[in-house]
Amino acid sequence: MKRKAPLTASIAAALLAAGLIAAAPFASASTAATLPNGAPDIAVADVKAQLANLQTIANNNGGNRYTGRSGYRASVDHVKSEMTALGFTVSEQSFSTSAGTSYNVLAELPGTDTSKVIMLGGHLDSVSSGPGINDNGTGSASLLAVAKAFKAARPTPGVTVRFGWWGAEELGILGSRAYVSSLSSAEKTRIKAYLNFDMTGSPNPGYFVYNDDTNGIALRNLLVQGFTALNVQTEYVDVDGRSDHGSFYNVGIPTGGTFSGAEGYKTSAQAAKWGGTANAAFDPCYHRSCDNSNNINDTSLDRHADVISYALWNLTGTGSTPTPTPTGTGTGTPTSSPTPSPTGGTCQAVTNGTDVAIPDAGAAVTSSITISGCNRNASATTKVTVTIPHTYRGDLRIDLVGPNGTTYRLKTENSSDSAANVNTTYTVNVSAQAANGTWKLKAQDMYSYDTGKIDSWTLAV
Ligand code: PHE
Ligand code: ZN
Ligand code: ZN
Ligand code: CA
Repeated sequence: MKRKAPLTASIAAALLAAGLIAAAPFASASTAATLPNGAPDIAVADVKAQLANLQTIANNNGGNRYTGRSGYRASVDHVKSEMTALGFTVSEQSFSTSAGTSYNVLAELPGTDTSKVIMLGGHLDSVSSGPGINDNGTGSASLLAVAKAFKAARPTPGVTVRFGWWGAEELGILGSRAYVSSLSSAEKTRIKAYLNFDMTGSPNPGYFVYNDDTNGIALRNLLVQGFTALNVQTEYVDVDGRSDHGSFYNVGIPTGGTFSGAEGYKTSAQAAKWGGTANAAFDPCYHRSCDNSNNINDTSLDRHADVISYALWNLTGTGSTPTPTPTGTGTGTPTSSPTPSPTGGTCQAVTNGTDVAIPDAGAAVTSSITISGCNRNASATTKVTVTIPHTYRGDLRIDLVGPNGTTYRLKTENSSDSAANVNTTYTVNVSAQAANGTWKLKAQDMYSYDTGKIDSWTLAV
């Protein structure tokens, strides 16, 4: 996607100081570019500047950033100082490994609702054989650039945002596992989503998304939506817990991630779709000394960083409290405030992750999602993604109820369908009504014995 990215202030200042651009070019303050959902467009130059810092750290420390070596410690210090300067609350966690002590870095920005935490992370360590610039300088640097742009655009998010840079992933996903096992069950419950970024700038790139278990379907759909907004086709890949998201889904936290490919080979169908070289590795320098600053595809780096920004924006709301609207006929000041709804006021997908138990052979239950600021009708291909754990899914009848009260049947009960769980996306033509308003997912258990709940659902109008 071609975009007009203004020169970032720091680059402009440097060029100005060097006499390379003329002074006083700006008639008014420039506004940062945004993605289609209003999220900050990440300047790839910001990501590359952080990659260069990690390369310098490796150069100054024996050529790597491996666990137990000075290059890893310097990487930790660098991330801590960057995030502290941005105004995040930063902490460090240490844990031991066979190669020596390692460290995780955590950085947090509190939201108006601190009962929910959205987490993003990636590993900061390299293998011993090289500087680890694509694996995983890219994820690490992208998170730094996203943190900076996000904080500037949304200093008080609707929910708490926490970033994690993990140690010793290359020794067996040790850092994220140490972090998750240090959390109380209440702290685990606060984490509503974990998004993982490990290798996003592969020189012969792919655009893969993963979720690895059904709890992460809505997150994966959101990542796909981000790439779609950039006109980039994606493929789902089952990475089978090969990175830090595994530590989170092991304890039931919904996870998703993006990935540009490692040692695997690009097929000719993938080369036709994404460009690059067929029958060659996505990253020929994977885990090798040549995984340096030259081992990066800038377009891939930019797109993946933009998708991180896109997803984080959708998951964190604005945090502002809407002005109460009086509904009665009397005079005076309204006494209750509507709950802020975590949407950016566009047509973006919205998720309700509050659990609703579905009583056995009982009354229908509903879960609501309110769309606002989407000034068109809902589409003919509206997507309803549901995560409903149930011990016998044939018991379930599921409907979508539109703002005008029309009911659309998504699934009919079927007493002979004994499989568990409904984790799927329904496409439904609801173009007869406006997108704005309150939509309900309605679930009813029709037959006695087995039970379940609405775990979460996502509506993309
Ligand atoms: N975690 C792997 C590594 O660091 C790479 C990888 C990332 C594999 C994402 C699959 C998915 O070596
Ligand atoms: Zn690796
Ligand atoms: Zn990696
Ligand atoms: Ca039942």
